[in-house]
Amino acid sequence: MDFTLTLLIFGWIFVAAWVPIVIATNRKTHPMALFVLFGAEMWERFSFYGMRALLTLYMSKVLFQAMEGAESRALGVYGSYTAMVYLFPVLGGLVADRIFGFRKAILWGGILMMLGHFTLALEGTLFEGSLFLFFFSLALIIVGNGYFKPNISSFLGDFYEKDDPRKDGAFTIFYMGVNIGSFLATLTCGYVGERINWHYGFGLAGIGMACGLLLFWICSRTQVLGDKGLVPPSVKERGPVVAGLRAPALVYIGSLMALPIVALMLNISNIVSGLLVVTTIGIIGYLVYEAVQLRRKARVMIASGGRPGAYLPEGEGTDEDTASPKAEGDRLLVVTVLFFFHAIFWALFEQAGGSLTLFTDKNVQRMLGGTEVPASIFQSLNPLFIMLLAPVFSWIWLRLRKRNAEPSTPMKFVLGLAQLGLGFVIIVSGAKLFATNAQVPMIFVVLMYLFHTMGELSLSPVGLSMITKLSPAKIVGFVMGAWFLSISLGNKIAGVIGQLTAAENLPDEASAYDTLALYSQTYLVWGVLVVLGAALVLLVLVPRLRKWMHGIH
Ligand code: PHE
Repeated sequence: MDFTLTLLIFGWIFVAAWVPIVIATNRKTHPMALFVLFGAEMWERFSFYGMRALLTLYMSKVLFQAMEGAESRALGVYGSYTAMVYLFPVLGGLVADRIFGFRKAILWGGILMMLGHFTLALEGTLFEGSLFLFFFSLALIIVGNGYFKPNISSFLGDFYEKDDPRKDGAFTIFYMGVNIGSFLATLTCGYVGERINWHYGFGLAGIGMACGLLLFWICSRTQVLGDKGLVPPSVKERGPVVAGLRAPALVYIGSLMALPIVALMLNISNIVSGLLVVTTIGIIGYLVYEAVQLRRKARVMIASGGRPGAYLPEGEGTDEDTASPKAEGDRLLVVTVLFFFHAIFWALFEQAGGSLTLFTDKNVQRMLGGTEVPASIFQSLNPLFIMLLAPVFSWIWLRLRKRNAEPSTPMKFVLGLAQLGLGFVIIVSGAKLFATNAQVPMIFVVLMYLFHTMGELSLSPVGLSMITKLSPAKIVGFVMGAWFLSISLGNKIAGVIGQLTAAENLPDEASAYDTLALYSQTYLVWGVLVVLGAALVLLVLVPRLRKWMHGIH
């Protein structure tokens, strides 16, 4: 039996045994809602990553095959797609805050995503090779993801008190759902799509999304989700906004109208980069403005003898102080600062799917028991390590908390960056000191991914959890959307850094020694120096950020 199929079968059996264990061991500590959201998000990510596993391959080998420069076209569309996928959460979050509430936003997003996957499957069967249908399907997934992904994360925060000690643990378990989905998807949809039929692969992604949607919909009709995430009452009271239409109807119409525009933009990748930069500047500007306004409000309150908490010196707040406008403003500033460190983290972490895979292909000794391990298989190490380590991290945070030794959120970011940087130290050392014939032993890659994954677990779920702690309740959805923008930015920068290692930078007759030198130099500068430097800068900022968090851990 071939290696991928064996891995696929083992993967499913492992997950089928692992998930019940995780649920059973955490059932008493966490509300049921965690496991519902875990399941829904697991299936949504199954669809998202299942489709992504096939996307570039399908474009370059089938869809654009007859066109000139198929590969660079495919990569261009792929870049625009990933950037826009994390651009739309800003809108999705805003709509959830103001109009839909989390539940409705999640359902609407899930429906759009599911349709997108199914039309992608149809594009190859009924409407063979229709470019319009192809781009339209991607647009459905982009817009749908904008409603689904940020809001399911914000919604999870609703089931815990603002600064609940279980929160980081809950998000870590939730994050495991994300990665179980991506692990199974990459194996399964990749296999079905490449070996059997592309469109069955896409269809399978659609079925995954349908499972997640069904799970969420059924559970939202029971008591598990309580009365949380419902449509904000003010919306119900508000009458028609324009042309006799109420706000929700306008959102539905607006989302549908956005689809052809998004579809068109996918084809022009420069516009997307511009859009990304403009949106980032706009959003960061807005967050800072909001923070300054809140601080000003606090000052006005002081002048008019308002709430005592508002004029206590920084960091010396009483309980009352933690809810003051000053505290809310300061917390938004913390989000803004961490936004940039989050982007740096992803810019280097995301080398995994790009330059690191090519590096593994060219410069890693991959013979194992007489067969050569394919370079792409190394990418399943990250979700695998997450599955195994997420419960451990969730447990460690709680234990440390009990001993009053849990690192604060900014400190966890420092740890995340430091571990990412150490991962690069490992691979650079392997390349510089232990390579034979310009081939690095496999163990260095495995250890590097282990450190990258531990870094991810220290920072990424904690970041999601942080947003639900630090945002004023009324704009959680929006701030979460803004947070996703830093991922979008990180992915974009990842592409630029990846290009530094491209074969085009070397002369035609370059040997494996030359490529190895180029990789290790790039990783030394960006992965080690920049990342560890960022960790150091953040470390210096930690005391200030902690003050600005006003009592939130
Ligand atoms: N792998 C993560 C996921 O798909 C990447 C990510 C982290 C995306 C945080 C958004 C926010 O969820």
